[in-house]
Amino acid sequence: MFKLTSTALSRVAQQARVRTFATTARTSDKVLAVLYDGGEAAKRQPKLLACTENELGFRKWLEDSGHELVVTSDKEGPNSTFVKELATADILITTPFHPAYLTAELIEKAPKLKYCVTAGVGSDHIDLEAANKRKLGVYEVTGSNVTSVAEHAVMTMLVLVRNFVPAHYQYTTQKGWNVADIAQNSYDIQDKVVGTVGIGRIGRLILQRLRPFGMKDMLYYDYNKLDQETETALGCRYVDSIEKLVSQCDIVTLNVPLYEGTKGIFNKELISKMKPGAWLINTARGALTVKEDIAAALESGQLNGYGGDVSYPQPAPAEYPWRTMVNTWNPKEGGGNAMTPHISGTSLDAQLRYAAGTKQILDNIWSGRPQLDKDIIVENGKYVSPAYGQHH
Ligand code: NAI
Repeated sequence: MFKLTSTALSRVAQQARVRTFATTARTSDKVLAVLYDGGEAAKRQPKLLACTENELGFRKWLEDSGHELVVTSDKEGPNSTFVKELATADILITTPFHPAYLTAELIEKAPKLKYCVTAGVGSDHIDLEAANKRKLGVYEVTGSNVTSVAEHAVMTMLVLVRNFVPAHYQYTTQKGWNVADIAQNSYDIQDKVVGTVGIGRIGRLILQRLRPFGMKDMLYYDYNKLDQETETALGCRYVDSIEKLVSQCDIVTLNVPLYEGTKGIFNKELISKMKPGAWLINTARGALTVKEDIAAALESGQLNGYGGDVSYPQPAPAEYPWRTMVNTWNPKEGGGNAMTPHISGTSLDAQLRYAAGTKQILDNIWSGRPQLDKDIIVENGKYVSPAYGQHH
């Protein structure tokens, strides 16, 4: 019987690889990337990879591999460059920071589209049900910016609990020195009860960072309960419903993905079950909350502060209620409002990681290598990520 020697085997393997690459070289894909504009900042800072000017750093690599790259920030409405170019695109790259909302209707108008890659974490701006119907692959760079978000969430807690924003505004803009006006609503984070809704990558990193502050208690709610060993290592305790969680917490932090099952969960009713005067931090997704209910809770004092970096839609329009909402303590100085544009997951360090991860995902597509399981949101008509819960 014919037997392959190890040299022959390696030759066969080599030929197989050559064949794969030969096939790859013949495929030329049009890649459409919707990114934010860098403007002056892009000129000053070459590390700002995720902007339209710096194109995630891979135009040369992509074109040298025989593919076409179209980059735009223009994403609103049927006449936008996004919608026009999508009609002939094979691969769409988007970011959660300046999201191109890929609706079911747009997917229908993109007959060649095969893959959507999120440069970052969170693919809720893509209609995942419609993507499954079309059997699109939706991938993201899971884990790439989770420490960046956890740092921002902890910073936001400190900023709110210590009443930093009005203090800074008083000092710089008002040229004032009124200690009492700030101290009347300034606390220590130590000895407070904190709770996270969602104990995935970011939820855990937040608790790890909070532990040295000496919290009174650290609680979590997630439909996946951790094992005892992990709970002990993190120093946290499971609560079996979101209502029970929020009723015990001084500080609540949201760390779940946005999908039908989590949309608008922080509405008037749930907020009314929170401790009066609690702080709510949301670096996950704006639409997890009802924006008008958040603003009303700040105004009534039910919430002492709200902060984070996510709104819906993005960019938030000028009249968005969170642009101007304030608490009852320092309304003139912006008290209780610690909102920023979507920046937590796009620090320069994070950009380096998610640009490299996006390039790797493209390289996997073109070399026929499977994607890492962690990076697959949906593929072949099915949810692969365990984060978008109701499908499992
Ligand atoms: P992850 O997938 O590691 O964790 C998500 C957790 O949420 C999982 O433990 C899951 O079991 C839990 N979960 C899902 N649905 C739930 C529900 N209905 N009730 C309770 N728990 C539920 O995700 P990771 O990396 O921690 O990120 C979380 C979210 O943060 C992302 O989906 C994204 O929307 C957002 N994010 C925001 C960024 C920013 O720049 N502001 C950057 C990165 C992520």
